[in-house]
Amino acid sequence: MSEPTSPETAVLDGLVPVVPHPTDEVGVNVAVQAALAAFAAAGNLDELKSARLAHSGEKSPLSLANREIGRLDKSEKAVAGKLMGASRGRVNKALADRTAVLEAEDAARILVEETVDVTAAPRRRRAGARHPLSTLQDRVSDIFVGMGWEIAEGPEVESEWFNFDALNFAPDHPAREMQDTFFIDPVDSHLLLRTHTSPVQVRSMLEREVPMYVLCPGRVYRTDELDATHTPVFHQFEGLAIDKNLTMADLRGTLEHFARQMFGDDASIRLRPNFFPFTEPSAELDIWHPGAKGGPRWIEWGGCGMVNPNVLRAAGIDPEEYSGFAFGMGVERTLMFRNEVPDMHDMIEGDIRFSEHFGMEI
Ligand code: DAH
Repeated sequence: MSEPTSPETAVLDGLVPVVPHPTDEVGVNVAVQAALAAFAAAGNLDELKSARLAHSGEKSPLSLANREIGRLDKSEKAVAGKLMGASRGRVNKALADRTAVLEAEDAARILVEETVDVTAAPRRRRAGARHPLSTLQDRVSDIFVGMGWEIAEGPEVESEWFNFDALNFAPDHPAREMQDTFFIDPVDSHLLLRTHTSPVQVRSMLEREVPMYVLCPGRVYRTDELDATHTPVFHQFEGLAIDKNLTMADLRGTLEHFARQMFGDDASIRLRPNFFPFTEPSAELDIWHPGAKGGPRWIEWGGCGMVNPNVLRAAGIDPEEYSGFAFGMGVERTLMFRNEVPDMHDMIEGDIRFSEHFGMEI
């Protein structure tokens, strides 16, 4: 007698499987019925495997009974062979049938569980997009690098001296009031968030050799409330050229080339007199924007001028030997009229849909 191999075959309708004598029709039939019941009861292929091992495996009652045939008398052998052959045939057929049923069920279940809806809308992972302020700054930088200029950078937490004094803002000069400044505590640290990129002019003059041609893109801060046309954090690019014999004509030619690169061959510029403490003479720069919304027109773009001799002196450059020109524009403002973005909020909210429609190039 073999031990039952799994709980579900241990007791079947009160029948404990025993090894029948191979000529014992009733005993063999009990084993066959036990096998058929176990196969029928198996709810999946794993359970069927256990049932098969218990009822038709090598140590099952029927297999053990079958093995006894060899030891029988000739007269019994024929009876036993016939009985066991037929019995095991029934069991194998039942096993094959149940296997087919459970395999089909399994296949059907997998089909349902792993269904792929080929008509479903694709779920795409969004790749992200560069912010148009970044791509615009890169484009501006590329234009100047193309003319042989270098890119310079300076700190956003700046000393008052670089931001104002060295740029010829006198301590009580009203021009200092022109820019609403975030000062950093304590006030006697004389640190502030730079209000413009112009302090990088002075840093460049102190760090570099003359002649120099540098473009300084960067972030700047002013105590403005956020609205459609103002933001307390914004970007500028500053240009500075120092060389022998530079004149307003060089400034004009450089800016006109730049304007055409940015706004097309039909663009041009004009300069209107203005005041900045760090340039003399100073000018307001207007751009003739051929593609402006509502038709071509003049648009105020930035400030420029010849570097004030006091600024050259503060940076240790002899104004008798060298002269320079400088200019500065806002990146947000440029994006607004170049790409028709009427509301500054769109630029700072970080909604990827805004950035995406500019593409990777603007
Ligand atoms: N720094 C000025 C501003 O923020 C812009 C500017 C004007 C820069 C004239 C210059 C310049 O380099 O020459 O308003």
